[in-house]
Amino acid sequence: MKNLSVEYIQKAIPEVLPVIPTMDVVVFPQAIVPLLVLDEKIIKGVDFALEGSKLIMLLVAKKQTDNYNGAIGTKDLHTIGTIASIMRLIKIPEGGIKILVQGICKASVEEILTEKDMLNARIKIISSEASMQDQEVIAHIKNIKELAEQMVASGQSFSSDFHLILGKMSDPQKIADFILSHLNLNVEESQELLETATLSDFLSMIYIYMNREIEVAEVQERVRNRARESMNKSQKEFFLREQIKAIKKELGENDIEEFEAMRAQIEKLNASEEVCTEIVRQINRLERTAPDSMEATVTRNYIEWMLSLPWGIHTEDNLDIKHAKLILDEDHFGLKDIKERILDFISIRNLRKDGHTPIICFVGPPGTGKTSLGKSIARCLGRDYFRVSLGGVKDEAEIRGHRRTYVGALPGRFIQGFRKVNSCNPVIIIDELDKLGVDFRGDPSAALLEVLDPQQNKTFYDNYLGVPFDLSQVIFIATANSLDTISAPLRDRMEIIELYSYSIDEKMEIAKRHLIKRAIDDCGLSSQNLTIEENVLEVIISNYTRESGVRSLDRTIRKLCSKAARALVETSIIAQFNVDNLEEYLGAQIFFDDEVNHEPTIGITNGLAWTAYGGQMLKIEAVVMLGKGKIMLTGQLGNVMKESAHAALSYVRVHAQEFGIDQKMFTHYDLHIHVPSGAVPKDGPSAGITMLSSILSAFTQRPIDSCYAMTGELNLQGEVMPIGGVKEKVLAAKRNKILHIIIPDKNKNDLKGLKDIIKDIDIVFVQHADEVLKRVLLPKKNTCI
Ligand SMILES: Nc1ncnc2c1ncn2[C@@H]1O[C@H](COP(=O)(O)OP(=O)(O)OP(=O)(O)O)[C@@H](O)[C@H]1O
Ligand SMILES: [Mg+2]
Repeated sequence: MKNLSVEYIQKAIPEVLPVIPTMDVVVFPQAIVPLLVLDEKIIKGVDFALEGSKLIMLLVAKKQTDNYNGAIGTKDLHTIGTIASIMRLIKIPEGGIKILVQGICKASVEEILTEKDMLNARIKIISSEASMQDQEVIAHIKNIKELAEQMVASGQSFSSDFHLILGKMSDPQKIADFILSHLNLNVEESQELLETATLSDFLSMIYIYMNREIEVAEVQERVRNRARESMNKSQKEFFLREQIKAIKKELGENDIEEFEAMRAQIEKLNASEEVCTEIVRQINRLERTAPDSMEATVTRNYIEWMLSLPWGIHTEDNLDIKHAKLILDEDHFGLKDIKERILDFISIRNLRKDGHTPIICFVGPPGTGKTSLGKSIARCLGRDYFRVSLGGVKDEAEIRGHRRTYVGALPGRFIQGFRKVNSCNPVIIIDELDKLGVDFRGDPSAALLEVLDPQQNKTFYDNYLGVPFDLSQVIFIATANSLDTISAPLRDRMEIIELYSYSIDEKMEIAKRHLIKRAIDDCGLSSQNLTIEENVLEVIISNYTRESGVRSLDRTIRKLCSKAARALVETSIIAQFNVDNLEEYLGAQIFFDDEVNHEPTIGITNGLAWTAYGGQMLKIEAVVMLGKGKIMLTGQLGNVMKESAHAALSYVRVHAQEFGIDQKMFTHYDLHIHVPSGAVPKDGPSAGITMLSSILSAFTQRPIDSCYAMTGELNLQGEVMPIGGVKEKVLAAKRNKILHIIIPDKNKNDLKGLKDIIKDIDIVFVQHADEVLKRVLLPKKNTCI
């Protein structure tokens, strides 16, 4: 079919044309569109047109409501449509025809004519003369072209040569048609466009639709990119991981299972999200590092530490008081006050589970059961337990951990301890707190403050872990031999409970009830194989051990048990120990009685001293000899002790007349004070009254009553001042069978809890030196200097 020129057709257009209604397509002038026609009436119209002008009128049906199924009447057709010429016709065998039409120009319907069996319309052509002179049109064309360029720049062009073709076009109508053919418009929008009165309006709408198209394209692109990005990231990771796996397999370093196992372990952890994320991060990092590198070792160690800690696991406390009492008595003899205190604490826990947990600090001489009490508390409560020994620790990193910068880096001792237990609320025994040091590597006691402070330890930060660890559920129990070296802020955070030296009787009981049983058990013996009589035990305590606690007693008992075991194995004989054959098994007696004077002697007084190993008796000797009034002090005396010797001498000189001493004695004679067992350093002011007694005895030549032992500081007025370590000193006197003890009056309170110990001892409380001298200075014998 020949394409007819528009002008020719327009002139030749008949007034009445057959109508083809279309449902879903608007045919614009110049557009070539295929149409399917099934209706008989319409087909007739087409046939009619083909016989004559070949022209038809295309009218779009108005949009029906969604659920309208009926036939479309003439009233449902838009009144503005397109005149098109039929270019080709194909008959479809099943019925109906397919035609190819080309739009020619717009026309409006004057009247619909429903003649017999055809649908015709009287039409009127709408001419839309485009003119390049119209300013508005020029502006629109310019805008449209700019927009098209913008699209190309941002890579959103409709097609690859869209803007090339557009660039060459100048006829506004053609430009409009060209763009129209690229836009995605629905039927209503197309109809609206068709109905625009002027070319300027038409272009303006085209511009709007173009903009919309760009926006849609942009949004689409954005969504697509986002999807692609997330896909890419996970795909990339997966791909890389697979590659790493393959490479490692090739290299024979097949530790993929290891990583998988690590990841599986994280699933089982009860840790916070922060912790899990950190472990995952480190596993991913490890995967990317060469397995032999130093970094891999550091990272692997770190992951192992993290995975082995008991994150978020808590044990349930056993708060049964009866049970606790039973356990405490089972593990330790005596220590009544301390056990009571522990039971008080458990009772509070019964009432308030989240109640404040005091930090207990046991202070006392070695071997008195401080560490083992801590262990007992853990057993009572059914908690895990571990010990952190701070003896000799000077580096802050021992508490807070090392940074993970080198291979040997480790967490602090607390976190290290958690690896050994299965819960994060154990009892932690902080042992030897008093042996903590300070040096250039920081102050560990300051770091310890953070560990112990309930305000801070919920998020205790160990440098090695790099994530917070909760210590708030832990029960801390500290032990120390003395309080002197513990820093004040640390002491302030703790509840101090003192333990004292054991008396011989207590040691006997501890040995009978606990130590012997344990030792027999540990050596694989039974009570039938070995018996240790009471008198043998007494000899062991006094001749083979000299201590405040029971540690070396325990050791000696174990030694006896091992001897018994050997005898049993070698000769099948049950060893019998008695006082006489003990030397055979334990060697010669190690300790002899303290330096005690048992005869009234001139210049020798029994003193009482306190050492870290408990109380001790010592003699203070004084002699006067011809000289020039000098004073000599020997026996490794410390400064304080030397000073108290001078003070005592001054007191004697001041009161010389009262005691009948000639003043010349002080200028014509020298005084020598000696404290035997010279290898042992001695210090402290508590020998004041003892020195005074010895000095006076030496100057007056009056003997000292050896039934007495004494302790007390002296001032120049002769007042007796209080001293420390009373219980230990009393025990030492008792051990040495001295039954009269002189003690400062102000120390009365210290003896309150010691009723059992002092029941057979005569304790003399004194306020002034005169009271001491009255008792111990015996009448003069007929001796001369
Ligand atoms: N009252 C007691 N009853 C039973 N056994 C005891 C008693 N006191 C101490 N022991 C035993 O003595 C041994 C030493 O005790 P432990 O190690 O607790 O001493 P410590 O006070 O911590 O000493 P140190 O200050 O030297 O650390 C342990 O085997 C302990 O069971
Ligand atoms: Mg200990």
